[in-house]
Amino acid sequence: MSFEKNDNHAPLWSGRFKEGPDADAVAFETSINVDARMVQDDIRGSIAHAEMLGRRGIIPLEDADLIAKTLSRIAEDIETGKLNIDTSAEDIHSFVEAVLTDRIGDVGRKLHTGRSRNDQIALDERLYLRRALTELQDEILSLINTLVSVAEKHTGTLMSGYTHMQRAQPVTLAHHLCAWCWPLTRDYGRLGDALKRMDFMPLGSGALAASGLPLDRRQVASSLGFSSLTLNSLDAVSDRDYCLETLSALSILMVHLSRYCEEVVLWSTEEFGFINLSENWSTGSSIMPQKKNPDFAELIRGRSGRVFGDLIALLTMMKGLPLSYDRDMQEDKQSLFSAYDTTLSCLKVFNKMIGSASWNVSRMKASCTGGHANATDLADYLVRKGMPFRTAHGVAASVVRECIDSGIADMSRLPFERFSAHSDLIGMDVYGVLSPEACVSARNIPGGPAPEAVAEQIKALKDFTGKVSS
Ligand code: ARG
Repeated sequence: MSFEKNDNHAPLWSGRFKEGPDADAVAFETSINVDARMVQDDIRGSIAHAEMLGRRGIIPLEDADLIAKTLSRIAEDIETGKLNIDTSAEDIHSFVEAVLTDRIGDVGRKLHTGRSRNDQIALDERLYLRRALTELQDEILSLINTLVSVAEKHTGTLMSGYTHMQRAQPVTLAHHLCAWCWPLTRDYGRLGDALKRMDFMPLGSGALAASGLPLDRRQVASSLGFSSLTLNSLDAVSDRDYCLETLSALSILMVHLSRYCEEVVLWSTEEFGFINLSENWSTGSSIMPQKKNPDFAELIRGRSGRVFGDLIALLTMMKGLPLSYDRDMQEDKQSLFSAYDTTLSCLKVFNKMIGSASWNVSRMKASCTGGHANATDLADYLVRKGMPFRTAHGVAASVVRECIDSGIADMSRLPFERFSAHSDLIGMDVYGVLSPEACVSARNIPGGPAPEAVAEQIKALKDFTGKVSS
């Protein structure tokens, strides 16, 4: 497709210039390769704007109609592949306006009445993010659902919990997988919060000082589904908080995925052997035929750095900018889109990788014994018999010490006479609280790892995904 442009690359608004820009200058400033993905959003915004211009009598109604219809056709042609985006256009706004003018001549030149690319881009980005973040939220829900369905099968699957990467107390796989879900519910909420805070319609702010034409901003807002209007034209064209908030939320989400991947990497080692990644989501080695590597977990962990980099790039780009619009801000999209793409693909890959993995229940259970992970339960046992916790902690420590000194791997194997020598309060019933099963089922308060408590968590998580998606 070709659109109206003269040989010296001057765009439709070459303005006061006698000369067109240097070809290298054009190449340097162009952003079409990045902002082309917002073409449908750009057109949607333009249709709403044109219809408002018509209804307000700022341009003739029939011109507004023709513009809106032609824009819809352009949107359709792009969708169906009949029209390709011409990458020699400066940006997506100029491309759409040029195609429009190419198709309907002078009437097309009325579209930009009362509008600037500065308020246009602030609108396009919001419209784009509304779609994009909703898709990301759906992906988060899908991941939570995957994790919950694995968790449901493993409420009785014992595994050691860790602090300082040392065996600490027994939990269950279900409890651990639910622990991966809650941060994701917060990520979901953060994206929702960002969406709420960007729900202000900026069109009508013009380049920086609004418009002297009687634009009906409320009508544009309601036809595009915004709840409110931006109320300061300078702020509206200077603001990129919605990008920064999005990138902050994505960065936090990537911190979570990266941590889960770190665990997947550890758990898939011979040393842990908790998880068995499917062959579809593992890689081999070019030299070591026996290898099965958790590359996808490592790549997600590695790619988190890119998303943080995108956030830092945008923060740095914005921090010195005077009001209002500055061209530096065009660079926002590179960071925003690359972080978005990275996060979305990481979520999808993590979901498939974890959903297709199998779990080594006996290895997990074995991790619960041998590290005296039941020492706290011994202390709790003594507390139940009336001993102050600090004293009970000391008694349990002395039992552990004795086991270590005499090479007994687990205190449940310590003979009763030696056990009870540590405190008069220790009776035969002590052996009943020391098994990993007993340790876990004793922790039956909200938030605990006992199967009944985890069933409550699972229910709450299902409520969350069911509620927010319906
Ligand atoms: N492509 C530009 C951007 O993304 C649109 C706004 C251009 N405004 C201008 N005054 N040059 O920010």
